Amino acid sequence: MGVNIRGRSFLTLLDYTPEEINYLLDLAGEFKRMKQSGTQHRWLTGKQVVLLFEKTSTRTRCAFEVAARDLGMGVTFLDSGSSQMGRKESLADTAKVLGRMYDGIEYRGFQQSVVEDLARFSGVPVWNGLTDDFHPTQMLADMMTAREEFGDLRGRKLTFFGDARNNVANSLMVACAKLGMRFCACGPKELMPAENLVKKCRAVAAETGGALEFTEDTARGAGDCDIVYTDIWLSMGEPDELWEKRIRLLLPYQVNKERMAMAKPTAIFLHCLPSFHDRGTTIGESIYEKFGLDAMEVTDDVFLGKQARQFQEAENRMHTIKAVMYATLK
Ligand code: CP
Ligand code: NVA
Repeated sequence: MGVNIRGRSFLTLLDYTPEEINYLLDLAGEFKRMKQSGTQHRWLTGKQVVLLFEKTSTRTRCAFEVAARDLGMGVTFLDSGSSQMGRKESLADTAKVLGRMYDGIEYRGFQQSVVEDLARFSGVPVWNGLTDDFHPTQMLADMMTAREEFGDLRGRKLTFFGDARNNVANSLMVACAKLGMRFCACGPKELMPAENLVKKCRAVAAETGGALEFTEDTARGAGDCDIVYTDIWLSMGEPDELWEKRIRLLLPYQVNKERMAMAKPTAIFLHCLPSFHDRGTTIGESIYEKFGLDAMEVTDDVFLGKQARQFQEAENRMHTIKAVMYATLK
């Protein structure tokens, strides 16, 4: 029987089988081809979705909005200042109201339990647009980009350099385990993924032929690597006071020319974005003034180099999110 995920929420890739994930990646590829050839596909005309953002966003919001409109749907955007949710109305009540007006709900915010509760109380598909724990729609774009480069991903090694217990690293570990890839977290011991998630991913990897590795040694992390991945060192919701400590801990894991040279010559560089690769942001400039660094998690030469695929990856957010909304709402 074919894959059918109609009516399901998309909260973490842990809930999805490798077949379902590959189905979404194939579907995203079809949507990308249709977009490129200018083929209209307003297959969900008449449906309505709401996007709830308690943290800021460029890619995720725009990807959901464009994808929803391409599918013919109406879209409402609500940020934390413009709804009653949480302050004047409980999450459960909000979810029940939204579930009566909308066919699907996107949520970006803090605790994973919020997105789970939204799904439980709304009765409609809920899509996780990033929580403190996971960023599953990002994973589909990342894996789509890697597949465009390498084809079958089984056995490919992806190394995440940096804060390996953040939402993106957690999700990469899950995604790699699900797709039979070799995941390596390369960073300081105190920023490694939580043991309970590692345990779940090890069990998945045992089924798929994937593997997990954790190392503080950058040569080991970069060696034999197909996909070099990094993310900012301080995630949304973490206090600015942590910058100094994070810089001290993570500067040895910066992705730079030397590190890329240790990976396979065919390796690609991915980054979920946004990135501090230069002084072109207010935060980047203030870090330069305080610490004398003109780049953080990745240097400008790598970011602008031939192996970099982060903008292709950003575009793929839209095609993959379209696949998730279509497959769960059709
Ligand atoms: N990668 C990503 O989620 O980007 P935004 O924060 O801009 O949505
Ligand atoms: N780890 C980052 C990802 C941004 C897309 C954050 O949570 O801020």
